[in-house]
Amino acid sequence: MTDHGDKLKTADVDEPSERVLLHRAIAASRNGITIGRIETGKIPLIYANAAFYRLTGYTPDDIIGNDCRLLQGGMTDQPGLPPLRAALAKGVEATVLLRNFRKDGTEFWNELTMSPVLNDSGTPTHYVGIQQDVTKRENDARAIDALNQSLTQRGEDLELANESLRSFSFSASHDLRAPLASIKGFCATLRKSIDVPDGSQPAHYMARIEANAERMEQLIEALLELARSTAGELTVRACDLSRMAQEVVDSSRATAPGQDAQVHIEPGLCAEGDPALLHSVLQNLIGNALKYSSKTPGATVWFGREEDAGGKPRFFVRDNGAGFDMANAATLFGTFQRFHSEQEFPGTGVGLATVRRIVTRHGGVISAESAPGKGAVFYFTLGVPRS
Ligand SMILES: Cc1cc2nc3c(=O)[nH]c(=O)nc-3n(C[C@H](O)[C@H](O)[C@H](O)COP(=O)(O)O)c2cc1C
Repeated sequence: MTDHGDKLKTADVDEPSERVLLHRAIAASRNGITIGRIETGKIPLIYANAAFYRLTGYTPDDIIGNDCRLLQGGMTDQPGLPPLRAALAKGVEATVLLRNFRKDGTEFWNELTMSPVLNDSGTPTHYVGIQQDVTKRENDARAIDALNQSLTQRGEDLELANESLRSFSFSASHDLRAPLASIKGFCATLRKSIDVPDGSQPAHYMARIEANAERMEQLIEALLELARSTAGELTVRACDLSRMAQEVVDSSRATAPGQDAQVHIEPGLCAEGDPALLHSVLQNLIGNALKYSSKTPGATVWFGREEDAGGKPRFFVRDNGAGFDMANAATLFGTFQRFHSEQEFPGTGVGLATVRRIVTRHGGVISAESAPGKGAVFYFTLGVPRS
């Protein structure tokens, strides 16, 4: 009792003895506490506290003089036993996890710590066993493991499905280009080989064929860009977003006349990311802002950075153009979602889906605010890019 310097400080008179106090402490423990005497080939129990009887449902008649193996219900090859046997053979301490059974047959997880008690010549004569019911902890851990496994499996399945969708849309878009080129080529040949008077019905039909072929080409290009937005590794570099935005504006003005909005770009905006993909984000957002403000007198487009309500920085692209109804906002970033007719404002309906994928891949989020006739603002953040 005193060989570890843990002698109790007791007063001399009118108090329970050290022996009684320690016995009470053991009896009051919420963990099972048992003592076995080492005999040849077995370690029968000579003591078990109340918590052990509560935990196992056995009585002193069942267990004293008996071996705790009876708790194992015949499961003698469970993983906790070899280390326990090795510790018993060496006469050293061990903590193991065991599957045990109560007297009524119900199972529980037992975290058992066994410590040898040595005699004066250093030979183990007894073992003290501490039994802790860890059923809830183990069941929770197993449930979490199972959940993690099924999530991993689901992630792998999704990755596989995504991969095949990506390669499908790549090859579909590629393969569609060849017959389209034929349609356009034969239309041109037809125009040359037969005399189609301007303003005639055949001229009208041919113009419709050519316009539709053109539109299909734009759609294919948009789909390829969408597929590219999630394919391949990201090449992450420091990007000068202000410069990129200016390039987007310059090239839009060159290719789409009539987009004469005043453009205000905040200088010095930088971010870490894939330059080609971030260019695509600005191309789509600023391109939309220019397009949807093109019919507004005094059209203005802004690209800048500000703090959100929580003080976190975010980029924004704002315009004072046509805007849209926020009731449709849920579908805004979906594929082939358009709020305006092709005649009103041309477009493919794929751009914002592309933007959202790129922003998500860059660890950011995108949102929008708008009202019909009141312009629109798109906010996006860029976090840690992931491949
Ligand atoms: C004091 C003491 C308490 C024990 N408590 C348990 C217990 O709660 N559950 C259990 O499965 N085994 C317990 N054991 C271990 C088994 O009684 C037995 O020693 C172990 O299974 C190794 O024997 P084996 O090689 O026949 O399997 C205890 C052993 C001792 C000495």
